[in-house]
Amino acid sequence: MMAINTNKRYFSKALLKWNEEANDREMPWKGEKDPYKIWLSEIILQQTRVDQGLNYYNRFVKTFPTINQLAKAPETKVFKLWEGLGYYSRCKNLIATAKYISTELKGKFPDKYEDILSLKGVGPYTAAAIGSFAFNLPHAVVDGNVFRVLSRYFNIDTPIDSNDGKKIFTQLADDLLDKKLPGIYNQALMDFGATVCKPQQPLCGECVLRSACEAYLKGTVNLLPIKEKSIIKKERWLYYFIIEHKGKVFVRKRPANDIWENLYEFVLLENNSALSEEELQSSTYLKKKIGEAFKIIQISKEHRQLLTHQTIKGRFIHVELGKPLPLEGYYTVSKAEIKKLPFPKFITLYLKDKNVSLNL
Ligand code: ADE
Repeated sequence: MMAINTNKRYFSKALLKWNEEANDREMPWKGEKDPYKIWLSEIILQQTRVDQGLNYYNRFVKTFPTINQLAKAPETKVFKLWEGLGYYSRCKNLIATAKYISTELKGKFPDKYEDILSLKGVGPYTAAAIGSFAFNLPHAVVDGNVFRVLSRYFNIDTPIDSNDGKKIFTQLADDLLDKKLPGIYNQALMDFGATVCKPQQPLCGECVLRSACEAYLKGTVNLLPIKEKSIIKKERWLYYFIIEHKGKVFVRKRPANDIWENLYEFVLLENNSALSEEELQSSTYLKKKIGEAFKIIQISKEHRQLLTHQTIKGRFIHVELGKPLPLEGYYTVSKAEIKKLPFPKFITLYLKDKNVSLNL
């Protein structure tokens, strides 16, 4: 059913006209020219929805108005500000790139596409967005919005996650780009994908591209875009022991090479299957680790979090320690200090629920 519409020029013209006349999407980074702020917004938006990312963006800009201020900040403070956004490698790269630009480039953000692309955490999509918004460089953005809009308008059923698909859509996006107004065009296409040509219930009834939209004409809008791979999720069971003694709690920084690197956690028992409440009560694990002088105060219900490639399940077990002892790899912090540490969402959601019993 592949039929590349010959009317490519109509697409770009109609899109820009829609942008002028009907696009009322407001976002703080729109029209922004400071490459630092554009970069910040694009890193946040890489794997986060606009409505969720807005507050984070505003807080980052307020706390660190310049890249040099971000570069100089203690890393834990930056991770704390990122807490809840997920995909923490973005934050790690954000810090590394801020330090690199601040020290190696004397704070001047690179203004050539290849140099922007070479920054840590910046792929072709983000480089095109920063380059076009900040420096008017003629590079087309190709993200989920663009795949969706183009696959529908041109009725292309090549899977967007196949090698062929990536080539076809990237080529098409480059052909369509308005080379004189790349920034405005790119932002218009993203906004159009987010507000009109939406994944579910697209607003075909009021769409200005409808008369030339091949999928609309053929009735295939809701079948597109096509993806070939579905992700197989791995299941993990994490049991967190919140071990308290005289108002202090054991924590550690999570190790590298796993999810949630650089975030903090309580004493962890990871198991490759579920542990029942009875098994946790019998506390074989704890006895091996800390002897007999403790009391289990509470065991939570099972909590879950869906990540892209993993499903996390687990419980939180509150333990009162009878006497102080060292616990290898962990150290103790006061409850006030806990509040300043960045934790994964799996833990913060639980803590919010349980403020009272932990007295945080
Ligand atoms: N997603 C990624 N970048 C974006 C932007 N500049 N505006 C809206 N959504 C986006």
